[in-house]
Amino acid sequence: MKILVIGGGAREHTLVWKLLQSPKIKEVYAAPGNAGTAKVAHNLEINPSDIEGLAEVAQKEKIDLALVGPETPLAEGIVDHFESKGIPIFGPSKAAAQIEASKVFSKELVKKYNIPCAQSTSFSDYDEAKEYIKRQKPPLVVKADGLAAGKGVTVASSIAEALTALSNIMQDRAFGAAGDKVVIEECLKGEEMSSFAFTDGETVIPMVAACDYKPVYDGDKGPNTGGMGSYSPPHFYSPELESTVTESILKPTVAAMRSEGKPYKGVLYGGLMITTQGPKVLEFNARFGDPETQVVLPRLKTDLVDILLAVVNGNLDQIEVKWSDDACVGVVMASGGYPGSYKTGFPIQGLNDLDKDILVFHAGTKIGSAGELLTSGGRVLTVVATGKTLAEAREEVYQNLPRIWFENCHYRKDIAEIDRGR
Ligand code: AMP
Ligand code: GLY
Repeated sequence: MKILVIGGGAREHTLVWKLLQSPKIKEVYAAPGNAGTAKVAHNLEINPSDIEGLAEVAQKEKIDLALVGPETPLAEGIVDHFESKGIPIFGPSKAAAQIEASKVFSKELVKKYNIPCAQSTSFSDYDEAKEYIKRQKPPLVVKADGLAAGKGVTVASSIAEALTALSNIMQDRAFGAAGDKVVIEECLKGEEMSSFAFTDGETVIPMVAACDYKPVYDGDKGPNTGGMGSYSPPHFYSPELESTVTESILKPTVAAMRSEGKPYKGVLYGGLMITTQGPKVLEFNARFGDPETQVVLPRLKTDLVDILLAVVNGNLDQIEVKWSDDACVGVVMASGGYPGSYKTGFPIQGLNDLDKDILVFHAGTKIGSAGELLTSGGRVLTVVATGKTLAEAREEVYQNLPRIWFENCHYRKDIAEIDRGR
């Protein structure tokens, strides 16, 4: 088979790496990919939002299956377009991807079907939202409705902060049309966890869960990023928790989407808060998470190609998905200044000096004119170690990280250090 992976981050490098373990794979293409995928796959210089360009190349190269990493092409209807051309593709339709692309849509869905979530109210009128906020008690959470690259959510500790977030979204239009509506939500307390499931619209198979770290600095300080690290399984994870999440959240959500006439196929990602009253939904995403994929897929024992095909062909009930009991810890190495402005083009050194079981998934990397490896983005690498326990995996990854170097690089030192407030 020939598979096309759409996207260019460490999540997509991990998908390419996992797909290449399948005996069914002849070739993998990545669009646009990065220097990591270039070593093992064919990179295609096409933007993931160029849906027509991607479909043309998929037809030209006789791609058997396309797999979408990022949310934007899903929200823009890449799955509908590929299916209209008869090209098999893994992911939800544009209508189903609303579960991520519109927080108002997903909130109304979970409320209508009694899926546990934070209490919330949606607004499309600025003055009404403002008056509502003034009547609340802090803390409270203000969310732009649409896609905002992970930046549309403010957990406000005062009414003033919530009002500033609201005017930023609805008046200053910081996220453009994503701010036409807002969701104002109670602030939940507990442990955060990302739970992914494969689904063909009927059968739901959970993956092993993971935790990610969004703030840039140790101790969850500083501005939010795309993710500075992740680990799996969460230290508070249990088979009972998995079964509660599957039965009370993931399966009812897939059934709800079916009832709404928007059958959901692909990966359903539940961003959850594990509260004293049980797990509750913070958000849904319509795809694999980044950087969670980097610590979830190394634990997958079943052939990923078989799972993807079963989802696309609607026979996921025929598949058993197996996972290793290992723990996995991933740390993101970022460019100096990220998530603010940063410089790129620095040589990356030390990748040949790592222990042999360390995995390095590339994100913002490129190959220079002399064949050298250079930085080309904010998040540069996710470095992953596997161990019998979280502590073992953690120790191994932190022993290896100092051997990798590029100018101004930085990474968190407390990923999977569960005693520190996690
Ligand atoms: P989201 O994009 O909706 O996942 O929100 C980004 C982050 O904001 C989450 O990862 C949480 O840390 C936080 N968050 C979102 N909603 C809530 C909530 N209702 N209560 C507490 N924290 C929240
Ligand atoms: N890990 C957060 C995300 O993928 O959206």
